[in-house]
Amino acid sequence: MNQISQAHSIVGQSRGRPETDFYPTPPVATIELLQRERFDGTICEPCCGTGAISEILKEKSPYSDIYSYDLNDYGYGETGVDFLEANRLWDNIITNPPYSLASEFVQQALDRTTSKVAMLLKTVFLEGVSRYGLFKSTPLKTVYVFSGRLSLYRNGEKLANQGMISYSWFVWDHNYNGPPNLDWILLDKNVQNSATEQVKAMKASELLLPLCQGSLK
Ligand SMILES: C[S@@+](CC[C@H](N)C(=O)[O-])C[C@H]1O[C@@H](n2cnc3c(N)ncnc32)[C@H](O)[C@@H]1O
Repeated sequence: MNQISQAHSIVGQSRGRPETDFYPTPPVATIELLQRERFDGTICEPCCGTGAISEILKEKSPYSDIYSYDLNDYGYGETGVDFLEANRLWDNIITNPPYSLASEFVQQALDRTTSKVAMLLKTVFLEGVSRYGLFKSTPLKTVYVFSGRLSLYRNGEKLANQGMISYSWFVWDHNYNGPPNLDWILLDKNVQNSATEQVKAMKASELLLPLCQGSLK
């Protein structure tokens, strides 16, 4: 990979990226988020993939209603649903969105929630003139930077340059009024390795679960 394509892939413009932009979230990432943030009420995972985030939410937030959707069919949740067209409200949205549409997903998630939005994004999402307005006009509460690299696999395949990419949880809170906070998540390397192996081994067929209730419209 040359320097330009490497740079593109870091900010989310890789030419080799599949249209579906499918990178399942390692379970440890969601577990770490839930240890730091509380999400009361309904939670929507609008691009659930194979349910990597939704399954942790069900386990760790058993009293919340979890709604799972995806535009594409990975055998989980309600499929064929374009989140950018959604017009109903949830209390919270938690997801790892397609990076090529990250700003659109953040704005739409904020418009469709009453409490919190948590997005797993590349840390460089903080930069950029085009996002200045987004950050200045929305209630970003905390950015949790993963110290050490979170390993994401594209369609179960390890990325050659994954060691170069830093990820963070970006958390917005409609009830927060103040400057954004910055915090760090230190991953235990052994936990991280076993979690990513677990995701790598996940097959959609093993995750076939009943469709979640509710409709986006
Ligand atoms: C980076 S993957 C993450 C999958 C899942 N959220 C996770 O954390 O494991 C992005 C997902 O967004 C879905 N997606 C892309 N565009 C979408 C859209 N407009 N509406 C809903 N889902 C979409 C893809 O099918 C893919 O499953």
